[in-house]
Amino acid sequence: MLLHIPHVLSRDAVADCRRQLEAAAWVDGRLTAGSQSEQRKHNLQLAEDSDLARALRDTVLDALGRTPTFFSAALPRRIYPPLFNCYTGAHNAFGDHVDNAVRTHRATQTHLRTDLSFTLFFTDPDEYDGGELVIEDTFGCQRIKLPAGDLVLYPSSSVHRVEPVTAGARIACFSWLESMVRETERRRLLYDLDRQICRLRETHGDDDTAVGLTSCYHNLVRMWACP
Ligand code: NI
Repeated sequence: MLLHIPHVLSRDAVADCRRQLEAAAWVDGRLTAGSQSEQRKHNLQLAEDSDLARALRDTVLDALGRTPTFFSAALPRRIYPPLFNCYTGAHNAFGDHVDNAVRTHRATQTHLRTDLSFTLFFTDPDEYDGGELVIEDTFGCQRIKLPAGDLVLYPSSSVHRVEPVTAGARIACFSWLESMVRETERRRLLYDLDRQICRLRETHGDDDTAVGLTSCYHNLVRMWACP
């Protein structure tokens, strides 16, 4: 499933982050790439252990925590501390690659299986040319370029790339997560069921049917989730 989640960050929050990111010291993005993808990765990143990366990471994680659609679609068990990148000038593209199946958090030496990847945009589409996130999966080839503050969630199993940025700069936050529900189809079903229950509650209130379906939803989560 590929999901566009709008307004994860408000315009004010984006502007505040942008002010800090534009004054940041960027490093070569190949520092966090595997041996295969480093040959295709030409971008800039914030150093993972910098004070700015830590502060912005908290901002992003707080925003994700306030976004029910993100929780419902991802059912996150653990989120890898988000990273920040910039595509501009000579550091302008990331060719076709797959994300590592397991990532190790350096500070805690804990491992995380990457079920889902996400990109949260900090620049608007009209601020740069190119820079589409192209995702190839069972749903075909999708070209993603979203407004600042919006997020795309997609399967980490997909081959994907960032097209060359030929003018301006594309600044984004990205990371991976391990879901409590490993199987994509189960996660999809839970997301669809949750959405339908929300609609039912909006139109009919919390009647007995809504309560019964909510019980079914939670019992399915109980059956399938690995907390
Ligand atoms: Ni990637």
